[in-house]
Formats: sequence, structure tokens, C-alpha cells
Amino acid sequence: MSTRQTDDKASSFSPSPVSGARYSRIAGTGSCLPSNRVTNQDMVDRLARDGIATSDEWIVERTGIRARHFADEGVTSSVLGVEAARRALDAAGLAPSDIDLIVCATSTPDMVFPSTACLIQRELGVHGCPAFDVQAVCSGFVYALTVADAMIRTGSARRTLVIGAEVFSRLLDFKDRTTCVLFGDGAGAVVLEASDQPGVVASRLHADGRYADILNVPAAISCGSILGDPTLKMDGQAVFKLAVGVLDKAAHEVLEVAGRDESCIDWLIPHQANLRIMQGTARKLRLGLDKIVVTVDQHGNTSAASIPLALDHAVRSGQIQRGQTLLLEGVGGGFTWGAVLVDY
Ligand code: UT7
Repeated sequence: MSTRQTDDKASSFSPSPVSGARYSRIAGTGSCLPSNRVTNQDMVDRLARDGIATSDEWIVERTGIRARHFADEGVTSSVLGVEAARRALDAAGLAPSDIDLIVCATSTPDMVFPSTACLIQRELGVHGCPAFDVQAVCSGFVYALTVADAMIRTGSARRTLVIGAEVFSRLLDFKDRTTCVLFGDGAGAVVLEASDQPGVVASRLHADGRYADILNVPAAISCGSILGDPTLKMDGQAVFKLAVGVLDKAAHEVLEVAGRDESCIDWLIPHQANLRIMQGTARKLRLGLDKIVVTVDQHGNTSAASIPLALDHAVRSGQIQRGQTLLLEGVGGGFTWGAVLVDY
């Protein structure tokens, strides 16, 4: 039993609304990739050992993926999430003690409970502020960002860490070539803080549980055993068709809520699953393909981590500049989807 003490100041923590602040804004971004980079050729060689054929050509042509990162044994979502969070805090010029809410989007938590957000909080050396996970699979980051934005707008938080962290390699069946070549591991984070200017301009979230079976990990823990298959299953074509339609709809919804049209978008930062889906979304929005932030080629599909990873890479490479408008779009298992319009 732990005897760790919670100090009085932290446990009586209660943020109050910042006067005049009705919005939230991104104050800093960070990300972290495991050091083990796995190329398509590495996957070809790995699958060949089990007599399974795939090729760099097939993977690049169908998905745009050229490489992904796999976490080494012992490297968990919280380990990657902490590093991404530290980098986001550095970028914002803040310390962990400045944070009053931690929301982590993940479908690959370190353990059943406590939440990965609580483990990240412990590792950051802060305590007292609320910390919880959001589970919306590949839409997790847009869900988490929307929740954090709402808590800031209502005065429940002032400075939040919003993290997407995943180790999807742990869910993969390396005998199923239709899925194992698609996914990777990583984490991304933003510091979202109260502001009198937007920030997060508008967001829309959706889910439709009728499609729960087209993308899932159909396992549960029961009485000390794993019931069902604990590896990822996907009907790729069904997901593909649904994704293209819902992403277009969600984009137009947030633009309508914001009272703007497509011309306001400087950068589209979609969930990085498949380059063809991303390009299809851009075309429907009448955006040039050079307006898409693309990291799927180097990261693969990192589920809830993909959008904050792409955002951080584009910020640090100088692609994204302050004052620009970003459309973040997530889609994935559940079925879930959503869009967030951000003035960066
Ligand atoms: O993160 C949540 C969101 N997820 C997504 O957005 C994923 C959406 N879906 C997709 O991105 C695509 O459907 C996939 C990339 C998963 C698949 O691409 P596709 O163009 O839909 O391929 P397919 O499933 O229709 O398969 C075409 C062929 C099949 O062979 P036959 O039946 O035509 O002989 C597959 O067996 O490609 C074969 N195939 C492969 N061949 C070589 C499937 N996987 C592989 C592989 N290497 N890894």
C-alpha cells in the first residue's frame, strides 16, 4: 500500500475562471516517437519469415506508408506520452506545476486502470489536478481536445495537457498482412490554455455504434483470463468508405458553426491512416494537396497520437505558423469521428 502523501495545496486545488477568457488556445506542442524505426522492407522481411507476402510497392500505393516506429519492450503509452507532454510544456514555456487538467486519448493504456493520464501525471511530478483518459480510438485526440476546450471555456481548467499516446504495435497480428503493415507507435501533446481570443474556434464530434464491428479489438478481461481475440481486426474497405463521407461532413459542420468557408483553412491535419483518404478529404474541401500535413508516410497510423504528432512535426518544421487556421479531423473505431477548427 502506498504511503505517498498529497500536499494540502494540491488537493484543495480549484481553478477559477480567468476573467475575460472565453476561449482556449494552443500554447505549445510536443511529440515523441520510439527510436525503433521499421521500414516497409523490414515488414516485408518479418512477414516473409512466416511465409506471408507483402511489398513496399503495395503498402506505398495503397496507403502512402513507408515507415513506422515500434516501441521496445517496456516502452508504454505513458512513457511516450510523458515525453511528448514535457516537450509541449517546454514549447509553451510552462512547468508541469502550471497544469490544472490532464486528458490523455489512448486505446492502448498501460493497464486496465488507473488511467494513462494518471500515470503521466505521476511521472510529471504533479498531483491534485484532474487526470483522465478518453477512449475514442483514432478520433481520440479530437475528442480529448474538445473536452479540454469545453472545460477551459466553463472555467473548470486554465492550462491543460491534451495528449494522444499509443502503442498499437502491441495489438497487431503479424500474421495478418491486411492490418499489421498499417500501424505504428508514438505520442503527441498540446498545452491548451485559457485565452480571450480563439484558439479553438469550433468543434463537432460524432459516433455511430452500429459500426462497432468494422474496426475493433474484440477481447475482454474476465476472471483472470483474456476472453476473445486481443488483436486488431479491420474491414479496411468498409472503414475507407465510411471515413471519406464522414470527414467531409464533419469539416463542413465545423465551418458552418464557425461561420466560415473552406478558404479559411491554411492546413488540413487529418488522422494519418491512409494518404488516399487524406487526399480525398482535401479534394472535397477544394484544398490543394499541398495544404495537407502528411506524416503517415513516416509514422504509419498511430491512432489517437497521429494528429498531435502531425501537428507538432508541422509546427517544428516551420510549415505551420502562428496566425494560421488549422482543420483537425479524426476518424476511427466506434465508429467515431470529429473535426476541430483552430486559429493557431
Ligand atoms: O485508423 C482508423 C481508420 N482506418 C482507416 O482509415 C483504414 C481504411 N482502409 C484502408 O486504408 C484500406 O482499405 C487498406 C489500406 C486497409 C486496404 O487497401 P484496399 O485498397 O482497400 O485493399 P483491399 O483490402 O481491397 O485488398 C486488395 C488486395 C487483396 O488481394 P486480392 O483479394 O485482390 O487478391 C488483399 O489480399 O490486396 C491484398 N492485400 C495485400 N497485398 C500485399 C491486403 N494487404 C496486403 C499487403 N500486401 N499488406
